[in-house]
Amino acid sequence: MLRVVRMKAWRRGAGLALLVVALAACESKATNPDGAKPTGIATPVDVQAGEAKFSATCAACHGVRGVGTKQGPPLVHKIYEPNHHADVAFQRAVEIGVRAHHWEFGNMPKIEGLKAGDVDHIIRYVRWLQRESRIY
Ligand code: HEC
Repeated sequence: MLRVVRMKAWRRGAGLALLVVALAACESKATNPDGAKPTGIATPVDVQAGEAKFSATCAACHGVRGVGTKQGPPLVHKIYEPNHHADVAFQRAVEIGVRAHHWEFGNMPKIEGLKAGDVDHIIRYVRWLQRESRIY
């Protein structure tokens, strides 16, 4: 009898531990709502120039490796895949800014100091991140 009671107590403990683990998993998801993950693998040489420009001018809001921050959405997200937001949308976003419409982060200001060619590099980098995350 005593043995059974002890077993139950143990089970309850294990259940609680599982719950804590599940909650912790949910919490880390909440800061990264749509499953975008920074890819752990090394950046290929051909997109490193784009990564440097992205890190310097976009990552403050869109996050390291495009996972998003409290200031801006993840670009590694299905709504920014090429059929939904083509490359021209990136050029336009940088050139004239973006009025908030998909999210509640506020407007994106236009970004000074980048040429169209720089933005092309950034786009190639973001597309690589998207493909790595199986967005498309
Ligand atoms: C000051 C913060 C900030 C910076 C810096 C920033 N963005 Fe944004 N960006 C935003 C926010 C906020 C949105 C989302 C607006 C919405 O749809 O609600 C956004 C949206 C976008 C979009 C989607 C445009 C669309 O048509 O919906 C693209 C593409 C984009 N950003 C690219 C960039 C690139 C590339 C850079 C760097 C050159 C950059 N952003 C820098 C805040 C920022």
